[in-house]
Amino acid sequence: MEKGGREKIEDATMESMPLLSPYDMTIFHLSHRVVLAPLSRLRSYNFIPQPHAILYYSQRTSKGGLLISEASGISDTAQGLPNTPGIWKKEHVEAWKPIVDGVHKNGGIFFCQLWHSGRVSNTSYQPDGRSPISSTDKPISTNLFIGGGSGGENAQYSPPHRLTTDEISQVINDFRAAARNAIEAGFDGVEIHGANGYLIDQFMKDQVNDRTDIYGGSLENRCRFPLEVVQAVSDEIGSERVGMRLSPFADYNDCGDSDPHSLGVFMAESLSRLGIAYCHVIEPRMVTQFEKGETRNTLASMRKAFAGTFIVAGGYHDRDEADRVVENGGADLVAFGRAFLANPDLPRRLRLKARLNKYDRSTFYTDDPVIGYTDYPFLDD
Ligand SMILES: Cc1cc2nc3c(=O)[nH]c(=O)nc-3n(C[C@H](O)[C@H](O)[C@H](O)COP(=O)(O)O)c2cc1C
Repeated sequence: MEKGGREKIEDATMESMPLLSPYDMTIFHLSHRVVLAPLSRLRSYNFIPQPHAILYYSQRTSKGGLLISEASGISDTAQGLPNTPGIWKKEHVEAWKPIVDGVHKNGGIFFCQLWHSGRVSNTSYQPDGRSPISSTDKPISTNLFIGGGSGGENAQYSPPHRLTTDEISQVINDFRAAARNAIEAGFDGVEIHGANGYLIDQFMKDQVNDRTDIYGGSLENRCRFPLEVVQAVSDEIGSERVGMRLSPFADYNDCGDSDPHSLGVFMAESLSRLGIAYCHVIEPRMVTQFEKGETRNTLASMRKAFAGTFIVAGGYHDRDEADRVVENGGADLVAFGRAFLANPDLPRRLRLKARLNKYDRSTFYTDDPVIGYTDYPFLDD
C-alpha cells in the first residue's frame, strides 16, 4: 500500500538519524534504537500486574521498538517495594499475558526485567517476616524512602540474612524458573537486573560482599553468582533472549565498588563469552538514580569488551546526545527512562524533533492507575 504523506516525510527524516535507524539484535529486528528503560511504577497491587498496564505499555510501543518491563520479582523473597509486579507464580504469568499481547499487537519487542531486591527490603516484604537475603549480613546504612504524591513513606531496611552456598543455588533456580515464566507469559526475552544495588549487584561490589567462600573475595568470585544466574537463564530460554543490566560505577543503595572499571570490563568480557543478546549499562555520570554529575569515567572499555548489543542509559533527555552516542559507536541502542515515562510516543517525537512533555516526579510512584501513568499526552493530542 502507498504510504501516506506524513509517514513519507517521517521516513525520510529517519534515514538520516543513527538513533532512528534499524538494528538487528540476535533474532530481533528493531526498526529504531530508542528503548523503553525499565521503570517501576508501583501500580501492580499485591504484586499482581494489573489491566491498566495494558494501556501503559501499548502506549509506549512502536513497531519494531524494544521495551524493557519494570523490575519484576523472581520469588516471594524478591520484593522490596510496594506494588511491584511478580513473575514467580502462575497468577503472575496469567496477569502479564494481556499486557505482553498489547505490546505485540502494536509490533513491539518486550523483555521482562527479572529482579531480586536482596537487602534493599525489609521483613514486612518477606515470607513469615523473615530477614531479607543478601551476599552479606551487613544492613544498608540509609533509610528506605519512596517519594510519592501522598508524601512518600519511610521504612527501615532490615539486617539481611547472608545466603549460604546451598541457598545460593536455590536463588539461581528461582531466576531460571522466572525466566521460563516470562517466556510463558509471552515475553520475547528477559533482562537480568544486575544494577542499582539489588541482590546481584550486592554480590559483585566489594563494598558489600564480605564473603569468604567461592562467592566472595576476588573479582572472579564476586562475579560467580551473577554469571551463574546468566548461564542458568540462558540454558533455560536461549542466550539470544537474554540481556543484563549493570551499573558498575554507581553506588546506589549503599552498593559501591573500589574498582568499577575492572568490574565492568570483567563482566562485559564474561557476558560476551556467554553470548547473550545485550549488555545494558548505566552511564557513570549518573551519580544518583536521577542526577547527572561530572565524571571522566566512560563505558568505552566495556563497550569494546562486549561483542553483542550494547545499550546505554542515564541522562539521555535530548535527541542530539543520544544520536551522537550511536553515531560515535559508543552504543547500539539508547534506553530512555523519564523521557519515555512522560512521552508515550517518544520515538516519533525524536524523529520529528518535536518538543517533549515534562515528567512529573510526584506521580512516578503513586498507585493511581491513570494519573501520571497513562494520561501523558501524545503529540497529536
Ligand atoms: C520511576 C522510575 C522507576 C525506575 N525503575 C527501574 C526499574 O524497575 N529497574 C531499573 O533497572 N531501573 C529503574 N529505574 C532507572 C531507569 O531505568 C533509568 O536508568 C534512570 O531513570 C536514568 O535514566 P533517565 O535519565 O533516562 O531517566 C527507574 C527510574 C525511574 C525514574
